[in-house]
Amino acid sequence: MTNALRVAVLPGDAIGPEIMAQAIRVFDIVQKHRDVAFDLIECPFGAGAYFSHGTAFPEETRTTCDAVDAILKGPVGLSHEESKIIPVEEQPERGAILPLRARYNTFANFRPIFLSRQMAHFSPLKESIIGDGIDILLIRELVGGLYFGEKERGVNSDGQRYVREVLEYDEIQVRQVLRVGFEQAMLRKKRLHNIHKSNVLMSSVFWNEILDEVQQEYPEVEVIHLLVDAAATALCLNPGQFDVMVMENMFGDILSDQGGGILGSLGLMPSACLGPDKAYYEPSHGSAPDIAGKNIANPYSMIGSVAMMLEMSFGMKSESDAVWQAMKSVFEAGYSTADLSARSDMTLVSTVEFGDRVMDSLDALLR
Ligand code: IPM
Ligand code: MN
Repeated sequence: MTNALRVAVLPGDAIGPEIMAQAIRVFDIVQKHRDVAFDLIECPFGAGAYFSHGTAFPEETRTTCDAVDAILKGPVGLSHEESKIIPVEEQPERGAILPLRARYNTFANFRPIFLSRQMAHFSPLKESIIGDGIDILLIRELVGGLYFGEKERGVNSDGQRYVREVLEYDEIQVRQVLRVGFEQAMLRKKRLHNIHKSNVLMSSVFWNEILDEVQQEYPEVEVIHLLVDAAATALCLNPGQFDVMVMENMFGDILSDQGGGILGSLGLMPSACLGPDKAYYEPSHGSAPDIAGKNIANPYSMIGSVAMMLEMSFGMKSESDAVWQAMKSVFEAGYSTADLSARSDMTLVSTVEFGDRVMDSLDALLR
C-alpha cells in the first residue's frame, strides 16, 4: 500500500454538507477495490466558518489545505437576506472562495457542460438541437480580471459617489490559460473556441494578440473566434458546434451558468480549479439555501467533482470513468431527485438514496 492521498474536505454551507456526505463515499469504494488509501480531513469554510471561527477561511483550514494533495470544496454562502449579518469582506464569496483561488493560483477552471443522450430530457432545449448530447469543455481563467483587480469607492469632486474596478491581465496570465485551452483541444477534437469582446474591450484585443502567439505552438488546432454575446446565443441555438471554449474570468462565470441552463440545472455542473502546484474541486453552483435540509439536492455536481479529482489530481482515469458511468446509470435506470426537472416517468429519490444507488453501481463497476 502506498502512502495515503490526503484530501481536505470543505463541506460548506446549506446543501453543501448534504451533497458532500454522498460525494466522499466514492473514496471509500475506490479504496476498497484498489491499492490506494485516502485520508480525508474535514475543515470549516464559508459562512458556517465565519460564525464558528470569526472568519470564512480560518487559519487552520489554510494550513490543512497547504498540506494536502487535493481539496474538495462544497458550495458556500447564505441567502441574500442572511448574508447581510456578515460583514461584506467576510461574506464567503469574497472572504473564502476568492482567497482560496488566489492562495493556490488556480488559474485554469475546467467546467464540463455535459449531457448524455439519455439525459437529454433534463435540458430545456429541443431534442433536435441536442442531437447526440452535449459535450463541451469550458475553460475559464479564474484568478485574474475584474474579480481580482483594484477596487475603489469614493466621492468625486462633484460630490457624487462613484465606484471603480479594474480589469487587469498580464501576458503570463493570459498565455498560461490559453495553453491549457490548446492542450485540451489537442486531447479532444482539435477545435478551440476563443471567446472575447475585442470589438469593445482593450483587454480582449490584448488577449487575442497573445492567442495569436500561442497558436503558433499548436498548428493542428483550429481556432474559432467568437464574441462573448454571440457565444451566449450560440450555446442555446447550436451547442453542438462547441468542443473546447476558453475565456477570461467574468465571461466564464456567466457562460458557465448558461451552460448549466442548457443542461437543465446547475446541479449538473462539477468543476476543477487547477493551479501550478495544487488543485481544488467544486460544484459550479451555489449553496441553494432554499432547498437545504430537505434531502432533495442532487449530489451529481459534488460526486462529479470527486470524479474530476480522481482523474486530474490522482491519475485514476478508469476509476473516474466508473464514477461518471455509475451516475449515468442511475439516471438511465429512471431515478432522479426533486430539484432536477425530471421526466414525469422518473422515480424521485432523496439525496441519500441517489447516493446509495450511485455507490452500489460504482461498487459493481470497480469489482
Ligand atoms: C462560481 C461562483 C463564484 C464566482 C462566486 C460564488 C464567487 O459564481 O464559481 O462561478 O463568481 O466565481
Ligand atoms: Mn458563477
